[in-house]
Amino acid sequence: GSQPLVLGIESSCDETGVGIVRGTTLLTNTVSSSMDEHVRFGGVIPEIASRAHLDAFVPTLRQALADAGVTLEDVDAIAVTSGPGLAGALMVGVCAAKALALATGKPLYAINHLVAHVGVGLLDGAKTTGNAKITGSANQAVRDGGIPASGPDGAAGAPRLPGNLGALLVSGGHTEILKINSITDDVQLLGSTIDDAAGEAYDKVARILGLGYPGGPAIDKLARTGNAKAIRFPRGLSQPKYMGTAEEPGPHRYDWSFSGLKTAVARCVEQFEARGEEVPVADIAAAFQEAVVDVITSKAVLACREHGIKDVLLGGGVAANSRLRELTGQRCASAGIRLHVPPLDLCTDNGAMVAALGAQLVMAGIGPSGIRFAPDSSMP
Ligand code: KG4
Ligand code: ZN
Repeated sequence: GSQPLVLGIESSCDETGVGIVRGTTLLTNTVSSSMDEHVRFGGVIPEIASRAHLDAFVPTLRQALADAGVTLEDVDAIAVTSGPGLAGALMVGVCAAKALALATGKPLYAINHLVAHVGVGLLDGAKTTGNAKITGSANQAVRDGGIPASGPDGAAGAPRLPGNLGALLVSGGHTEILKINSITDDVQLLGSTIDDAAGEAYDKVARILGLGYPGGPAIDKLARTGNAKAIRFPRGLSQPKYMGTAEEPGPHRYDWSFSGLKTAVARCVEQFEARGEEVPVADIAAAFQEAVVDVITSKAVLACREHGIKDVLLGGGVAANSRLRELTGQRCASAGIRLHVPPLDLCTDNGAMVAALGAQLVMAGIGPSGIRFAPDSSMP
């Protein structure tokens, strides 16, 4: 067909991902994770992640090609995450992609990982095969699946996003609210964390509470049995001097900070221990989660309201969090904003999102990156 067949490669953290799309149709999303190797260290070790990418890349590529029923010769373009992420981990994917591009003569596109998290929402229905879809607490404001394109999406051009699209990305590496004016060339950062990412805060607090790694799922589960109102933890950067007003925004109106929250949890645990009392782990987990989710959703919805955003895409590993899905859904609904949550395996790091954005660039007629670019671990 006339839709480009694009192979996407992702290696910015601990997931080796190879995805293949045809235009906006997902053919395969093959992911190999080195998470198991990081568990005993309580966090991703960059050196181990890089070595794991080296081991996993060729088998993951072979699997993806087999699953999609295509060969490298069939591919029209190769796309690879060039940043942001762990430098050594990015290097493996970028070198692999350059090698493939050189060997096959296919055009190569360098992709911004964060924008790719949004681009994945453009896949048809953002449906996937294999991995289970999240069900449960998503209320009716939450739509599972991709973002319906607003304009005619004929084969000739890229499908159009709804105007005024926002993206809330919450993972172990990022916490950002973006405004997507054009997925191919105009993405605006409205707000982000100034220290830890939200998932990182979950992982650190889980360690303080002795819940193991990764901490997000453990806290999510335990919090259901706790009383979130038992303790009130701080909502970072919420004071008037940071917020300002809509007319005169403060310096961090749409930004987050989670390192103070982590310290507050540690101090709280110490106080119970100092008094010789049993630490109410479930209540602390619930109160911590409420503080994170409250401040994420309130600031994200504020940013959207003040920028005329009517559709929001939720992405990143923390999109799995039941309370985040629930409260984002409620607050978006109250603000008249539609919330789109792709299936979780497309929300977490994967190659399909890289392929999806690569296909958008091809369809928009944007030229390839060449092979001289370097990975950029702190790409904005
Ligand atoms: O997107 P992701 O798979 O990888 C990157 O960090 O890029 O996100 C992983 C993060 C981890 O910090 C993990 O603890 C968190 O997502 N996470 C959760 C949940 N599931 C995963 N956090 C809160 N609640 C969850 N249910
Ligand atoms: Zn990511």
